[in-house]
Amino acid sequence: MDITKRILLGVCGGIAAYKSAELVRLLRKQNVEVRVVMTNSAMEFVTPLTFQALSGHSVHSKLLDSDEENAMGHINLARWADEIIIAPASANSIAKFAHGIADDLLSTVILATQCKVTLAPSMNQAMWLNPAVQENITLLMARGITILSPDHGSQACGETGPGRMIEPAIICQKILQAEHGSLNGLSVLISAGPTREPIDPVRYITNRSSGKMGYALAEAAKGAGADVTLVSGPVALVPPEGIKVLAVETAQQMYEKVLSCSAKANIYIGSAAVADYSPVAELNKIKKKDANKILTLLKTRDILASVAESHEALFTVGFAAETEHLETYAKDKLVRKKLDMVAANWVGRADGGFDKENNAVTVFWPGGQQDFPMMAKRNLAQQLIQLIAQHYHEKN
Ligand code: PMT
Repeated sequence: MDITKRILLGVCGGIAAYKSAELVRLLRKQNVEVRVVMTNSAMEFVTPLTFQALSGHSVHSKLLDSDEENAMGHINLARWADEIIIAPASANSIAKFAHGIADDLLSTVILATQCKVTLAPSMNQAMWLNPAVQENITLLMARGITILSPDHGSQACGETGPGRMIEPAIICQKILQAEHGSLNGLSVLISAGPTREPIDPVRYITNRSSGKMGYALAEAAKGAGADVTLVSGPVALVPPEGIKVLAVETAQQMYEKVLSCSAKANIYIGSAAVADYSPVAELNKIKKKDANKILTLLKTRDILASVAESHEALFTVGFAAETEHLETYAKDKLVRKKLDMVAANWVGRADGGFDKENNAVTVFWPGGQQDFPMMAKRNLAQQLIQLIAQHYHEKN
């Protein structure tokens, strides 16, 4: 069978290095040609012989290797690869990649390459959550490097939390899915932006949503091969190309549009900040004759819960915008609204959430969760779409 892709696998020092041997085996089974670069620390955990036997090629580890033609191994390797995967990516190597340090073969290849780079970090949970690591991750993502966020769970060091490298089978699946279009042939319906609830003909109640998160999700879903319909509240954004945009204003209009499109959709992502209450609107402009004015607010219909209820086969993803008890409230929404997933974000803070360029979320699904650190909404959207695609395919 023909080789489908050339992947350079970088292995850093960490207990998860043994799992990367399995990753080589899985990639080879998919006709991917794999070359391996190991750091000195990686070779303390697993011998190069293991990777040599599995990849069918000698392992590269020296920056100045006299056996390589012109002693330019790093340039040759950087040019050879269609894609570079670093698994496990240690905190130390992540810091080197973020700051352009080139003191070994792997960090030099990363500086020299122009191909897609994906990192699967693995480290102790406190190290992963350390602001130094998170800032390096944010820097790398801003430069277009894909991060496969680590799993949450018990760790080799005896602690529990985020930091376990995701399983080789999932890494392999993500690499091949990204290649083939993880949402090819699927119809994705997304709601975005705020709603406007009229008080009278000239005034309304709204919220701070800019639509950036929802528009980024629409672009990422389109990029993953989906046919995308975006039901959008009033925003000041240019819709991504190739996406059907249905403009609405009120929560009731959004309800009607989403419900009418949901029967044809495979996935619904509710990223809109829909008003929970709508005033009983006055027909004419309210005059300021009273000292105080009391508005009567009526509860709006829950769009997300309604689509989840009426189309059981639809894969439903909600957002939870919280100012307190993020996990408790998000998990409650997951169960109460009968969702497949919920992406919980903090709002009302200095960074992330409403009307910001960046966002961080924790995604919950029945029996699992995954943290996505603060990053540009476009990068976050791409990662969320890959996670949604993976769970959609597991369910269907
Ligand atoms: O638009 P940006 O400026 O980029 O900001 C992004 C965001 C913060 C708005 C986005 O990330 C986000 O959190 N969106 C959901 C906001 C929200 O309304 O959250 P909620 O916790 O109140 O609602 C929970 C879920 O129910 C949401 O998926 C919401 O779309 C849905 N909902 C709520 C009320 C309602 N009547 N119908 C609904 O479908």
